[in-house]
Amino acid sequence: MDDVQMQHLIAAKRDGGRIAAPQWAGLIASYMSGRIDDAQMAALLMACVFSGLQAEETQALTEAFVRSGEVLSFPTELSPVVDKHSSGGVADTASLIVVPLVAACGVRVAKLSGRALGHTGGTLDKLEAVAGVRTDLEPATFERIVRDVGCAIAAQSERLVPADKRIYALRDRTATVSSIGLIAASIVSKKIAGGAESIVYDVKCGNGAFMHDPPAALELAQVLVTLTEGFGRAATAVVTDMNEPLGTSIGTALEVIEARDFLQGTRRDPRLLAVCLTLARALLEGAGFDLERADAAVDNALRSGAAAERFGAMLEAQGAVPGALAELEPLGAGVSVRALRGGFVSSIATTALGEQARRLVAACGSRAGIVIAARIGDTVAAGQRLAVVYGDEGAVAEVQAAFALSDEAPAARPLVYAEVTSAGKAFARSTVETK
Ligand code: URA
Repeated sequence: MDDVQMQHLIAAKRDGGRIAAPQWAGLIASYMSGRIDDAQMAALLMACVFSGLQAEETQALTEAFVRSGEVLSFPTELSPVVDKHSSGGVADTASLIVVPLVAACGVRVAKLSGRALGHTGGTLDKLEAVAGVRTDLEPATFERIVRDVGCAIAAQSERLVPADKRIYALRDRTATVSSIGLIAASIVSKKIAGGAESIVYDVKCGNGAFMHDPPAALELAQVLVTLTEGFGRAATAVVTDMNEPLGTSIGTALEVIEARDFLQGTRRDPRLLAVCLTLARALLEGAGFDLERADAAVDNALRSGAAAERFGAMLEAQGAVPGALAELEPLGAGVSVRALRGGFVSSIATTALGEQARRLVAACGSRAGIVIAARIGDTVAAGQRLAVVYGDEGAVAEVQAAFALSDEAPAARPLVYAEVTSAGKAFARSTVETK
């Protein structure tokens, strides 16, 4: 595809038109070979954000991403191999917990992940905060770790969905993330290339997610499930709340510390626990467990320390320096962020916290970030601690402004909004109420 043909496609999409499947294939191949540059691709991505993608376009883009690299396939003796993916949130440490937890229940997890995107955290960046850990695994290494340890988390690479790797980074720089079609193609292409047979999606919904309201999140959930099933893989999507950070820690090393402490049982935030249990159950059900067996296996893996051991073993297999996980700690003592008045925490500007944590990590290193100490619905007194900032006192005012305080208790909202198990079938799962 040449420059002029690409201009026509950008204009067509800008004006609300549809790009045909062969053209999607051609433009992705041309971008990967350097015939189309970042400027034209960024313009097309922005046109996609404004005009949206039709179902056949999302399918064609996903196929083009998958075809840009290899597709892994695990031998039947390892079956079933499962995977999970979040659509992106703040303090979303669930992958670091759920992947080893499910592996400790006897089901192999092969996960291809991404880096930070917009204000949301990236699992790869978090893992690499542990000294020595590598995520740029060769396919053979990835497969070996999944076989021997039971789980691995790797990056897109020159061999695995390279087109998503490049376009993902471009979307991060050009504010072109928030499109259901682009998000779905990015996520599903990684899952198909990664080789898992059964996939669970955690679609985040709220002011800290790319999907701000339940209808949009439900639409993304349905697109993810339909698209995945079209590739012959099983899929479930759960829509979960992201109107406040999921866990308490926002950063990279800080989130690894939270995952480590969670798995060791020394600190388990109730919201993070509820979402991790929901995801772990769904993954095990996808691997053929009934609910009772799934709950018993998860309970045993957490109680016995097997899940914590599996996390350590996965990090070690991916290159962690011995002792690095145990020694990980926040940067310095931290500075408390305090409430300017008393009242109920009525809302939290979750995106602002995610952006601030990303800035702190970029400026001060992986052990910087934010740990929240108050949640929506909590009552706080004037001067009470709302959060702790690690790395740069300059962030305190912005973190303080992210917590809205009022005299009225906020309305309760569900933590799990819905579960989508196959195309078009969704049922409400308001199982856990927040305060
Ligand atoms: N996660 C991904 O892998 N891609 C997106 O576009 C959003 C979240």
